Amino acid sequence: MAKLTVNDLEVRGKRVFVRVDYNVPMAEQNGQMVINDDTRIRATLPTLDLLIKGGARIILTAHLGRPDGKPEPTMSLRPVAAKLADLVGRPVAFVDDCIGEKVEKTVGALKDGDIVLLENTRFYAGEEANDAGFAEQLAKVAEHYVNDAFGAAHRGHASTEGVARIVAKRGGKCAAGLLMERELQFLGDELENPARPFVVILGGAKVSDKIKVIDRLLEKADTILIGGAMAYTFKLAQGLRVGKSLVEPDKTDVASAAVDKAAEKKVDFLIPSDNVVARPVKTDKLNKKGKPVIELHDHRVNAEPNIPDDLEGVDIGPATVKSFCDVIAKAKTILWNGPMGIFEDKRFADGTFAVARAVAETTKNNGAKSIIGGGDSVKAINNAGLGDQVTFMSTGGGASLEFLEGAVLPGVAALSDKKI
Ligand code: 3PG
Repeated sequence: MAKLTVNDLEVRGKRVFVRVDYNVPMAEQNGQMVINDDTRIRATLPTLDLLIKGGARIILTAHLGRPDGKPEPTMSLRPVAAKLADLVGRPVAFVDDCIGEKVEKTVGALKDGDIVLLENTRFYAGEEANDAGFAEQLAKVAEHYVNDAFGAAHRGHASTEGVARIVAKRGGKCAAGLLMERELQFLGDELENPARPFVVILGGAKVSDKIKVIDRLLEKADTILIGGAMAYTFKLAQGLRVGKSLVEPDKTDVASAAVDKAAEKKVDFLIPSDNVVARPVKTDKLNKKGKPVIELHDHRVNAEPNIPDDLEGVDIGPATVKSFCDVIAKAKTILWNGPMGIFEDKRFADGTFAVARAVAETTKNNGAKSIIGGGDSVKAINNAGLGDQVTFMSTGGGASLEFLEGAVLPGVAALSDKKI
């Protein structure tokens, strides 16, 4: 059932509790935490603009990192408040707690259109436990509830789920923010009845991470293109040799079942016919986990489906790039989730970037809707400099995947239904 959106709320003078996903990458620089990528902050600006113009008193809550239920200074949201103030062009108050007297006092002093950002909700164990008492404390200052945190909507936590239930029980409204609405539209409605041909491009490391998505999309897609390390499990399932490639030997039955289902549903299911390969060499250096660093040497194109025993597949090869791009060029709807190879290393980025270009060109030349399903594929499109040339890029990682699998997200389920 359709959910209320922030457009349906009467917010003037009301205290609106807005859950956002400000779980942004940060790094320490000269003793200070600095935001490396503000995409998720920018993505909430349409909702904030609407609430500011509508005269709401805006209480923003979010999590950052995984501090395990206790305060962790490197995971404070304070730098986000400063960044948001820059982006929104007005002051953003910050409270170094998310519950209690300080919060109530600051919220009590808010005027229409004012914004306060509260400290990381995960500094309390009650957040992830969705503890009823903690949710009550958070909800104390809320009259209405807006969830714009699509990226965290797969978590049934106090600020994503518990508070909404409490606000609704009290007679307040619980609505999707504009970002949440767009995410549900593109990852949900648009893929329900896609314009055809509908081409799905899936990559990434593991078949086990994506099998539910593959299974569901086999009901909808015309073609599925498989790249990334998970393609090696499909190769193995077909009796091909994969050398030292990353593979899940215990998942070949799952891969075979997907191929059989594709044949039954008449979905074209393509795996790479060639690859870029390299020789893994163990070094004396240790990584952060104390394991030896493996270097990849002597990369070259392996022009046949079998990969030699001493080599590892690291990207799709040029023949595969051509066949994948030919399919993409005819698409009217494209969904992409997961890179084609180790694109972070520019020696192995050609396949992923070629696919990114094909997606952008097809969007422009063929009027296709291109939807990028979050995580590494968004990073790849951005690294290729094509972020503004696709129809939609999800801000979710795990949430996008679970939603594409067809799961009901707790943060969405808790919102008020729209009465028609
Ligand atoms: C994300 O970055 O995917 C979301 O913010 C959720 O974070 P989590 O995986 O720590 O719950």
